[in-house]
Amino acid sequence: MRFPEDVPVLTDGVVTLRAHSADDIDRVFETCQDPVMQRWTTIPVPYLREHAVGFLTEQVPNGWRENTGWSWAIEYEGAYAGTVGLHDGEGGVGEIGFAVGPAVRGKGVMTRAARLAVKYAFDELDWTRVIWRAFVGNWASRRVAWKLGFRDLVTIPDGGRARGVRADEWVASVGRDDELEPQGIWWTVPVLADGGIRLRPLRDSDARRVQEACSDERTQYWLTGMPSPYELSHAEKFIAGETDGLASGRAVSWAIADAVSDELLGNVSVFDLNNRFDKTFGEIGYWAHPDARGRKVMTTAVRLVIAHAFTPVEEGGLGRRRLVLHAAAENTASAYVAEATGFTLVGTERLASPRRDGTYNNLLAFDLLRTEYAVV
Ligand SMILES: CC(C)(COP(=O)(O)OP(=O)(O)OC[C@H]1O[C@@H](n2cnc3c(N)ncnc32)[C@H](O)[C@@H]1OP(=O)(O)O)[C@@H](O)C(=O)NCCC(=O)NCCS
Repeated sequence: MRFPEDVPVLTDGVVTLRAHSADDIDRVFETCQDPVMQRWTTIPVPYLREHAVGFLTEQVPNGWRENTGWSWAIEYEGAYAGTVGLHDGEGGVGEIGFAVGPAVRGKGVMTRAARLAVKYAFDELDWTRVIWRAFVGNWASRRVAWKLGFRDLVTIPDGGRARGVRADEWVASVGRDDELEPQGIWWTVPVLADGGIRLRPLRDSDARRVQEACSDERTQYWLTGMPSPYELSHAEKFIAGETDGLASGRAVSWAIADAVSDELLGNVSVFDLNNRFDKTFGEIGYWAHPDARGRKVMTTAVRLVIAHAFTPVEEGGLGRRRLVLHAAAENTASAYVAEATGFTLVGTERLASPRRDGTYNNLLAFDLLRTEYAVV
């Protein structure tokens, strides 16, 4: 192909993909100074003007000329907004890469631009599959990939590399016959409040309180899956991992916070939302910080979560039909929460609850149906 004459202009009416030109040098240079860009992409750091010059006058034109890379400038509201490109398409399977400047983020620009590029890969380059890769933690990129129907996401430890350093990587792909639409739900964490507490998303600053709560003797005794000793790094990993539950449709987890001080009092979650056999079911789990126990914090939190779980998806809820809750037979406080919030004890699973010493406890199984909940 000739550059720039043969570079197709693609548009959806809002975003236009066009050939890059030397006029974009300043904007590319400026965009690449952005710390977010430097953190999540493989561009050189420090990013010099000569890097932008090389990218626009050699790398991009050569890709088109040699049929090895297809990069476009993204034009939005009459100005250069970013770059989207296809590369490594040998054998009809290739990769997509993209970035936009900070000023236009969060407006759907990248999703629109990437959709045009993916369609071009299938319709014009005759690719059968497009692969997306991102460093773990790049949630904006993952969300773009999710909105475009990229699927079967896997995490490859140390699979990515930037400037000679390895980092964990997400990889997902979309095939030519796949719908370019989200596969599954990406849950959100609504703020729910009642009785002096506020359920809100967990945040990094909760780590110390999470560590305190999860190091507590009683929590450690009943929740045998908790690392022991429970370090601050475990808390940080736990908080970072909660977004993955939302993005993969698996679970929604809240910080239970004091309505006045906003201090974390505990954690409540609904998980197994993607259950292989029943997508209308969910399990409730929780733990409380020791200084929050004995004042009905968990009962209030679970009540709020139940109401949210039974609210239809169209109305912002989790659309559940049935909730379950498990408590070790000797864990009276947990069984109390289940009963106080309307759950029915349906049975005892014998020796189903492991203890740290290698022995097993009976496990009480509770459930609650939307039909009976609505009647109460
Ligand atoms: C990734 C990037 C291209 C997204 O561009 P964008 O124009 O903001 O993308 P869109 O607006 O189409 O979509 C971004 C989505 O991510 C969401 N998002 C942003 N930050 C998020 C976060 N921390 N957690 C969850 N979602 C997040 C936005 O809300 C938006 O979703 P919505 O439209 O449903 O609200 C942009 O952030 C960027 O240039 N980052 C630096 C370069 C980069 O990371 N490139 C990708 C390398 S793999």
